[in-house]
Amino acid sequence: MPIERTLSILKPDATRRNLTGQINARLEAAGLRIVAQKRLHLTTAQAEAFYAVHRERGFFRDLVTFMTSGPVVAQVLEGENAVARNREVMGATDPAKAAPGTIRKDFAESIEANSAHGSDSAENAAVEIGFFFAAIEIVG
Ligand code: CMP
Repeated sequence: MPIERTLSILKPDATRRNLTGQINARLEAAGLRIVAQKRLHLTTAQAEAFYAVHRERGFFRDLVTFMTSGPVVAQVLEGENAVARNREVMGATDPAKAAPGTIRKDFAESIEANSAHGSDSAENAAVEIGFFFAAIEIVG
């Protein structure tokens, strides 16, 4: 299986409830290595740019408001099949549909405040990693 990198964001509902360590432990237990990490508070323009693909969706404004409501932790995760692996560990977008034992099932508050974001493809991962990190900040 290929060694991949993916972009992960621990969202404001997770930082607010001091859950970043517990979530990181789940990621690491799943074989994902945190090769870059930073805590930041997104501006409205940054959140709009990151989620630009969703700008026509009805939930876009609420999503931007939520993602700017507190600090986030942006991460680069590395490992075998990292994109799919991270999505497995996170569980479905809607916590009501997420499998038992997944991050979103155990921690998410709602479909919006769903604790974590993960890239949905290797192509998008490369773009999303470049949004948050310079190559020199990623230490494998
Ligand atoms: P994320 O993986 O970060 O990608 C887009 C985000 O939009 C998603 O997680 C959810 O937090 C949020 N969102 C809010 N409402 C919806 C919805 N109805 N369908 C999908 N995503 C939603």
